[in-house]
Amino acid sequence: MATKSSSLRVGIVGFGHLGQYLVERIIKDGADVGLTLAFVWNRNWEKLKGLVPEELVLRNLSSFTDRNCDIIVEVCHPQVVQECGVHFLSHSHFMVGSPSVLADHELNEKLRQTAKVNGKTLYVPSGALWGGQDIQRLNDSGALQALFIRMSKHPSCFRLTGDVLSDWTEGEGRRVLFRGSVADLCPLAPNNVNTMAAAAVAAGKLGFNGVQGEIVSDTALSDYHLVEVEVMGLNGFSVHTVRKNPAQLGAVTGSATYNSFWNSLLVCKGHGGRVYLC
Ligand SMILES: NC(=O)c1ccc[n+]([C@@H]2O[C@H](COP(=O)([O-])OP(=O)(O)OC[C@H]3O[C@@H](n4cnc5c(N)ncnc54)[C@H](O)[C@@H]3O)[C@@H](O)[C@H]2O)c1
Repeated sequence: MATKSSSLRVGIVGFGHLGQYLVERIIKDGADVGLTLAFVWNRNWEKLKGLVPEELVLRNLSSFTDRNCDIIVEVCHPQVVQECGVHFLSHSHFMVGSPSVLADHELNEKLRQTAKVNGKTLYVPSGALWGGQDIQRLNDSGALQALFIRMSKHPSCFRLTGDVLSDWTEGEGRRVLFRGSVADLCPLAPNNVNTMAAAAVAAGKLGFNGVQGEIVSDTALSDYHLVEVEVMGLNGFSVHTVRKNPAQLGAVTGSATYNSFWNSLLVCKGHGGRVYLC
């Protein structure tokens, strides 16, 4: 059991589904695993009343530096990463809960540079990705040749920026919504393809342009999301995984992903100035 003096101080940015889950877990289990809450921020801080101790509520996000955080966790919106990610990483390790934003090449480069210069780690949670560390190892050894990810969900679980799915009807079955590079997919479905973005980080040599993805609407998937990963390596090496992620109708995030986020946070103890899949 970690002692209080060795606790990592965690700042949580965003108090939606994931933010609330993480705050509750840190309050309940943090002392046992060496995590302490440093602050919680939400754009509407009234939402935190009665749920977060008053002294931990951060009203002005730019004053996060007063809270001496070891790690800041964004579970909010890609825009917040655009606006504050570099500032966060200049002071603390930073776990980006909305990694689809890393498809923005310029921001991606800025964050990598900031991590390097400041010796802070940019953490990318695996989310619903199975085998992320294996993909990363294959990538690092130079043997990864291709990576494809298909995410299939009930249409009520998609949040798309366009209106490609505005006309769905119950019972219509399966419909491929988009197939292409993860770089092109991220702006179309930023809330649905964070897992693909994590894969693109693991497969750094292929990157967001090289990793291929597909999103599929399927009215038969009323109880779970499907995440299929196909990895191709040298000399005919291949792996195909199919993950069933239990999820209710309308849920953007599968229920197992909450626990996955918690496990990712437990890894964030500092891995030097680089990007690290956790
Ligand atoms: N990495 C993964 O596998 C994974 C899994 C699920 C969700 N996510 C991402 O994590 C983030 C949070 O997910 P969630 O399920 O908790 O979402 P949510 O919608 O339940 O909560 C989002 C919170 O952020 C706030 N917010 C929204 N837009 C904002 C903006 N522009 N500026 C400031 N605050 C804003 C909302 O008020 C809310 O409190 C999302 O970006 C989502 O795409 C990632």
